[in-house]
This record gives sequence, C-alpha cells and structure tokens, in this order.
Amino acid sequence: MSEISYMSKASLQRVRVLLGMTGGIAAYKAAELVRRLRDAGAEVRVVMTESAGRFVTALTFQALSGNPVRSSLWDEGAEAAMGHIELARWAEEVLIAPASADTIARLAQGRADDLLSTLVLASSAPLSVAPAMNQQMWAHPATRANIDLLRQRGVRVLGPASGSQACGDVGDGRMLEPDDIVQGLLQARGPRPLDGLSVLVSAGPTYEDIDPVRFIGNRSSGRMGFAIAAAAIQAGARVRLVAGPVSLPTPAGAERIDVRSARQMRDAVVACAADSDIFISAAAVGDYRPQTVSPAKLKKSGNALALELVQNPDILAELAAMPAHPFLVGFAAETNDLEHYAREKLERKGLDLIAANQVGEELGFECSENALLLLWPGGRDELGKADKGVLATALVERIARLHAAARDGQARA
Ligand code: C5P
Repeated sequence: MSEISYMSKASLQRVRVLLGMTGGIAAYKAAELVRRLRDAGAEVRVVMTESAGRFVTALTFQALSGNPVRSSLWDEGAEAAMGHIELARWAEEVLIAPASADTIARLAQGRADDLLSTLVLASSAPLSVAPAMNQQMWAHPATRANIDLLRQRGVRVLGPASGSQACGDVGDGRMLEPDDIVQGLLQARGPRPLDGLSVLVSAGPTYEDIDPVRFIGNRSSGRMGFAIAAAAIQAGARVRLVAGPVSLPTPAGAERIDVRSARQMRDAVVACAADSDIFISAAAVGDYRPQTVSPAKLKKSGNALALELVQNPDILAELAAMPAHPFLVGFAAETNDLEHYAREKLERKGLDLIAANQVGEELGFECSENALLLLWPGGRDELGKADKGVLATALVERIARLHAAARDGQARA
C-alpha cells in the first residue's frame, strides 16, 4: 500500500491561540488577524504589551476575540480569573504579531519582565513571531543575530514582507498580511490526520435501573474513550463524546452528551451518526436491562429475587445496518481467545476496525494502562501495554489511515 496522504483541509479548528501584540503601527492589522484566526476555527486570547496599548485599544481586541484582553502581570482581577501560568498552559500556539525589534531582542534574551515575555517562557506551546519594524532596524546586525537565535531555538519567523513602510521607507520589515500569517501558521502546523472530520465517541459504562436506588452497571471507567476523544481533537477532528455515568473531566474542545442507560446512549449515538464520519464505540454498553423498573425501592422479602432481563439494542450493529454509516470502530474486551473472538466480532458486526483488549490481569477496566490488538479486514497490529493516552494517540493514527484509505477507495470506485 502506498503512503497515505492526508488530503483533508488544514484548519485551526479549536486550536487555542494566544496572540501577543507588541508596540508597532502594524498593531492595527492585528484586529483583522484576530478575525482571520477565528474564521480558521481558532479560539483566541489576546495579550498586549504596554506599548501595543498606545497604538490600539484593548476594547477592540476584547470584542473581536470574545475574551478579556490581558496586559499586566500585576492585574489581580485578571489573575483571579485565569492566572498567567494557567494562560501559558492554556495556549496551544503562541503567536506574536506584530513582533517589534525590542520584543524580538527580549525573547532572544529570555526576559520575563512583563506578561507577554513571562508567558512565552512559561508556555511549552510552539512560538511564532511576525516581525514588524523599520527596514533599517530589521537589517541591523543586532536584530539579525536575535532572529537567528530564535530560529535556532525552533521559533517560527513569519515574514516580514517587503514594501513601503508607514515611516516612508521602502524595504523589508512590513508585517505580513493577516491572511498570510494564518497561512504561515497552518503550514507550520502541517495538516492533521483528522482535519475537517467529525468523530463520534462513546465512552464509559451504562447503568440499567432496577429501582430508584439500584442499577446494573459494569466496571468501565470511561478513561479509554475519553483519551480517544482527546486524541481525536488533537488530530484535528470535531468530537462529540457520548458519555455514560463517569466522573471524568470533559476533554477540552469536545462536545459532551451525558447519558445513563444503553437506550439513552443508542438514541444519542443515532442522532449524531448521520453527520459523523467516524464512530468509535469505546463504551461498555450493558447487554441486558431489567424488563421493568420498579417505581419504589424493592424490599427484602426473605425469598430469592428473580430479575427478568431483556436485551438492549446493539448500537454498533444498528449503525452498521444503516445504508450510509460512518466508519465504524468497535472494542472487544475478552478474558480469553482474544484474537479469535475479536476477529469474529469484526466480521459479524460489519466493522471497519476492532480494538481488542484482554481484561483481567491488571489490564483493561479501572486502570490507566491497557494493551490493544487492532484487527481490520486484511490487517492487524499490536499496541503494547502503555498509558491509555499513548494508546489512544496510536489508535487514532491507525483509524485516520484506514479511514483515508477507505475514502480514497470509494472515490476511485
Ligand atoms: O458484542 P460486544 O458487546 O462484545 O461488542 C463490543 C462492541 O460493541 C463495543 O464497541 C461496544 O461499544 C459495542 N456495543 C454496542 N451495543 C451493545 C453492546 C456492545 O454498541 N449493546
């Protein structure tokens, strides 16, 4: 099989961009930049240096970004809302535009004497700068050395462009146009394997009520499904997460739909299926539910109690039977004969991929590590014991490749 190319449209969908603005006349163009970033799907928070505030107002950027603008390290009110370290961690991309000669020099030195420089040091996010300055300042050996140093450290330098400058000079030093900065950011990030795709994930157990205080549940923690949702977001997808009763935080950027029973999960999944490209069924759906739910708490009678159980809908099988269904990924938790049962399930349920895991022996449910055997029509792969987050990333990569191959195959057919 030839190397698969991810043809999907690159985007900044749900990428958290911290836009740092420094003092320069090009700051007026940053207003348009915020719009372009948001058009590309990014969530934007703006930090202005004191001198940026002499060119443009924070109010403009608050309105455009939809978030409060920060400018001081010493703003107690803002710190109470989102401290500067939290803000640094929040950012997935740090973009400084315009980046003045002074800011570039201070970044090169690793200073931390204002909010923006402190954030840059405190953030592990990739840093991009869009320089904007007079052509003489850009050509100065000091600026050249600072830029070289930043590049060596992996900082992306976007521009500058050449042309007439606000000061009347002509030459290199104009800030790139907002569209070009967004393009530069997109190119630097590269296409992500699930860009532009909609992924539906089910996670956790289901609870089937017996009476108002008792239920039949299972030991699924939901951690694998939540890790898959997070990995799919990282891979560029729009993610909807149908979650059974679990106490886990929602991965940033996921749209969460909470359910309790298998039938509620079925309804939520079916409602989302039509506009999903991929469904990853990581939930441990209860196969049976009590035929009737007692409206009052059942009392001890001194005798044995028989519960009549009826079968729940098989959500995956129902989706597989739909004429135009998403790419289907199922899970199989088995205590023995893993590959045999999983392969049988892959075929019987008409899935595109199955992720099988051995349960028991300190693997599977209720723990943070797992190991997966991946089976698909004509292929297999083993993902060795690892943290569920690491496994989720590898699984999502495999899903993206198989989905792209299936889509390319359909396009050729
Ligand atoms: O048949 P089995 O329950 O082992 O299949 C497991 C896979 O099927 C999992 O992906 C699970 O989420 C899904 N499933 C389902 N509806 C059910 C039972 C299982 O979608 N009622």
